[in-house]
Amino acid sequence: ARPVKLAPSLLSCDFTRLGEELQAIADADWAHVDVMDGRFVPNLSFGLPILAAARRASPLFMDVHLMIEEPERYLRDFAQAGADGITVHVEATRHVHRVVGAIRELGKRAGVTLNPGTPLEAVRPVLADVDLVLVMSVNPGFGGQKFIPASVERVRTLRGWLDELGSAAELQVDGGVTPANARSLAGAGATNLVAGSSVFGPDGAAAGLSRLRAALA
Ligand code: DX5
Ligand code: ZN
Repeated sequence: ARPVKLAPSLLSCDFTRLGEELQAIADADWAHVDVMDGRFVPNLSFGLPILAAARRASPLFMDVHLMIEEPERYLRDFAQAGADGITVHVEATRHVHRVVGAIRELGKRAGVTLNPGTPLEAVRPVLADVDLVLVMSVNPGFGGQKFIPASVERVRTLRGWLDELGSAAELQVDGGVTPANARSLAGAGATNLVAGSSVFGPDGAAAGLSRLRAALA
């Protein structure tokens, strides 16, 4: 099987200790940064200043997941605040192909994602142009939700499409990822797992991260 990158989601961390939380996940591959606008999703999270603070505190790859309407309005700002990769929802823009191009023109890695109720065909036309495809395995907006089991088949289908294209894009999964389902997601072809509540638990993020890694070994 392919190596799997782990991307703890800062949404579930203790923001009073952002620097220490980033230290605790220093062994992770990426840090996942969830930005919500209260429009595209029914919740607000945080934005540019928190990304900039995380950037100052950690050398980890900053994987920014924009759950905002018309993400094209803010690409430059997120790039300047320290994003290494930016992922946008196909449902949030009329011009996903243009947005992917704009992210790459900023010198950042471009990702696309889609909600659990959106047909996979919606991302197929841009698959050859992206560095990452994200399968949402919960309805975006909140950490700590239950994994939607049908997501495994969606990962398998996308894995087939990416392989057909000879694409090396990351195939990421986000929402309800735990040590109990990580292995089956890797088996279906995922290369990158986001995990919030299962990493930032009561016994600390380093322990949560190790549990997830152990489940994949
Ligand atoms: C959900 C966010 C996720 C969230 C995952 O809208 O995109 O990244 O933080 O949290 P868990 O792993 O707890 O489902
Ligand atoms: Zn996310």
